[in-house]
Parts: sequence; structure tokens; C-alpha cells
Amino acid sequence: MSKWTLADIPSQAGKWAFITGANSGIGFHAARHLAGAGCAVILGCRDAMKCEAARQRIKQEFPTADVTVSFGSSMSVHPLGTQKESHTISQSG
Ligand SMILES: NC(=O)c1ccc[n+]([C@@H]2O[C@H](COP(=O)([O-])OP(=O)(O)OC[C@H]3O[C@@H](n4cnc5c(N)ncnc54)[C@H](OP(=O)(O)O)[C@@H]3O)[C@@H](O)[C@H]2O)c1
Repeated sequence: MSKWTLADIPSQAGKWAFITGANSGIGFHAARHLAGAGCAVILGCRDAMKCEAARQRIKQEFPTADVTVSFGSSMSVHPLGTQKESHTISQSG
């Protein structure tokens, strides 16, 4: 049995993910890899500047990726609320 790698992530096209703590660490890399697989990703962060920096890092690597930011107390997933399949990754702190 071969070892699972990131290359085995199936297409995430048509799905969206909301990820808290997305500006660094596990949250950032989860967002990055989901975005690379075609998932629309919302980065949930406490700090607007860190959030935007994370978004830019992902867009540099995957220019066509759909990556938006949601920060502070106004975090919202409303823009993608009509799409059915989703991931919510809440791992911060
Ligand atoms: N890395 C590992 O090997 C490992 C192993 C087992 C478990 N974990 C757990 O997995 C989680 C993430 O680890 P990580 O290494 O990715 O951490 P990290 O690099 O320190 O990232 C933490 C993220 O969570 C945010 N955050 C921290 N405290 C928060 C709070 N009170 N409210 C909202 N957001 C908060 C941080 O935002 P700011 O940048 O604004 O601070 C940052 O975006 C932690 O709970 C950690 O204990 C990690």
C-alpha cells in the first residue's frame, strides 16, 4: 500500500472551506493545499494584515485560487453560503 501524499488530494472544485487561525501554521497550510486543489477558501484570522499577507502568499503560489479573508469580530461565510459542500477547519489557539 503506497503512502498518502498531498498529491492525492482529490479536486476540491465547487467546495468551500472556512479556516480559522489561517494566517500561520496548520491553518495556513490547510488553506494553501485546499486552495491549490480548487477549493474556495476563506481565511479566518484575528489580524487583518496577517490575513491579507497569508492570502497573498497563497495567491503567489496559486494565482487562480479563490481566496478571501475574514477577520476580527466580523468573520463571515455569507459570500459562499449558497454553495453546498464545505469544510470548516477550526483549529486556532
Ligand atoms: N504544530 C503542531 O505540531 C501541533 C501539534 C498538535 C496540536 N497542535 C495544535 O494545533 C493548533 C494550531 O497549531 P499551529 O502550530 O498551527 O499554531 P500557530 O502556528 O501558532 O497558529 C495559530 C493560529 O491560531 C491563531 N490563534 C491563536 N490563538 C487564538 C485565539 N485565542 N483566538 C483566535 N485565533 C487564535 C493565531 O493567530 P495570530 O497569528 O493572530 O496569533 C494563528 O493564526 C493549536 O491549537 C496547537 O495546539 C499543533
